[in-house]
Amino acid sequence: MVIAIDGPAASGKGTLARRLAAHYGLPHLDTGLLYRAVAARCIALGRLADEAASEQAAKTLDVADLDPETLRTAELGEGASVVAARPGVRAALLDLQRRFAGQPGGAVLDGRDIGTVICPEAPAKLFVTARPDVRAERRFRELLGRGEDISYDAVLADILKRDERDSGRSSAPLLKADDAVLLDTSDLGIEAAFAAALAMVEARRG
Ligand code: DC
Repeated sequence: MVIAIDGPAASGKGTLARRLAAHYGLPHLDTGLLYRAVAARCIALGRLADEAASEQAAKTLDVADLDPETLRTAELGEGASVVAARPGVRAALLDLQRRFAGQPGGAVLDGRDIGTVICPEAPAKLFVTARPDVRAERRFRELLGRGEDISYDAVLADILKRDERDSGRSSAPLLKADDAVLLDTSDLGIEAAFAAALAMVEARRG
């Protein structure tokens, strides 16, 4: 069974993807880490603005090298959103994601275009969202916890800018698939959100 989870930054999709993967004993891929890793390589080379350099980084990416600890920074979130708007980068990461989804037994993938582009045939699709102020508050606390020196206002501005870039790009924009179930986590705690997500997946499985 493939479970496809999409949504904007800090909507809760990552937590739900991890919880669903643990519940069903499925492997999980946070596809945002792929774009973050591409951005990290480009920034290290001083070539974030260089489209060819980002495509090259995407083509040679190794999933085994993805370290969530070093990749989940505000700078790399922004950089990831920039490289993710380039069709060549997205094309270079397509096979890797499809192979992950094609593992025997299935997989859980979360990102922006899983239900629309990567796994359009997935039986269970969730589109997880929350109000921008709620998402900014969550991301602010997460980044503070990681020791980043950042303000709530800066985090909110970053989230709004990324929403606009991720939704407005022409190549695989952030979009709810027609057959995805919408889950708004604004007023839900983690347990309630997980229970709702699980019920939706079970309904699709049945
Ligand atoms: O989920 P995240 O914050 O780690 O994602 C970082 C950026 O990567 C996001 O702003 C857009 C891009 N991304 C994408 O375009 N497609 C995906 N499937 C996952 C992430």
